[in-house]
Amino acid sequence: MKNKIIAGNWKMNNNRVQAEALITELIPLVSETKNTVIICVPFTDLCKAVKLTKGTNIHVGAQNCHWKESGAYTGEIAPSMLTELGVEYVVIGHSERRSYFGETDETVLLRTKAALAAGLKPIVCIGETLDERNSGNMEKVLSRQILDGFKDITADELKNIIVAYEPVWAIGTGVTATDEQANDAIAYVRSVFASKYGKTAADKLYIQYGGSMNDKNAEGLLNMPQIDGGLIGGASLVAAKFAAVVNAKK
Ligand code: 13P
Repeated sequence: MKNKIIAGNWKMNNNRVQAEALITELIPLVSETKNTVIICVPFTDLCKAVKLTKGTNIHVGAQNCHWKESGAYTGEIAPSMLTELGVEYVVIGHSERRSYFGETDETVLLRTKAALAAGLKPIVCIGETLDERNSGNMEKVLSRQILDGFKDITADELKNIIVAYEPVWAIGTGVTATDEQANDAIAYVRSVFASKYGKTAADKLYIQYGGSMNDKNAEGLLNMPQIDGGLIGGASLVAAKFAAVVNAKK
């Protein structure tokens, strides 16, 4: 099995004072891990996060970026504005952005391409809703999100991308996919990538699980063979809980 990539997605939480307290508490708790640790923080916390994590094993990510380099796009942030701060990762196409802010597979692709071109490593989110799962459309939805959302992504570019499988029904609900549900869905996701990029590239691709993952259920999920890590929301806001996820799989 690969080492795991564990990313915290703080969403719209933590001002600069709270961010400093959380990161300071987190640093010693995750310093021994062989896993990759990333915190994806609000734009306003990025400078502080980069400064505080310098010289540690914690990497910093943003939660979105635009596809243009500059221009009249009020409220948006260009990928190069992130890299110049020392940001390494960026979450793209989170289901909250898809459902609240009109993100589509097409804009996911544009943002991913631009992020890669700037030297960021995108964490691209996909996942089905409960209705889609219950109506037997899970595979159709996931394969559309992959085939459209990765349409122009080359095999070389894929090497710098992390995929996060986040079933929408498990996000923030306290309902986690079972170990087997998460593993099976990720196996399916990997098979779609294999059909596009070949088996070797698909096997190398890191695919995380996200959705109510926490200190209690992380070990089971991270021991599943298909699950290469986690994208953690609520539990990433508590240093001890996030550290327990990071350290769940040695
Ligand atoms: P929760 O862990 O709070 O369910 O959020 C998951 C998520 O959306 C991470 O991106």
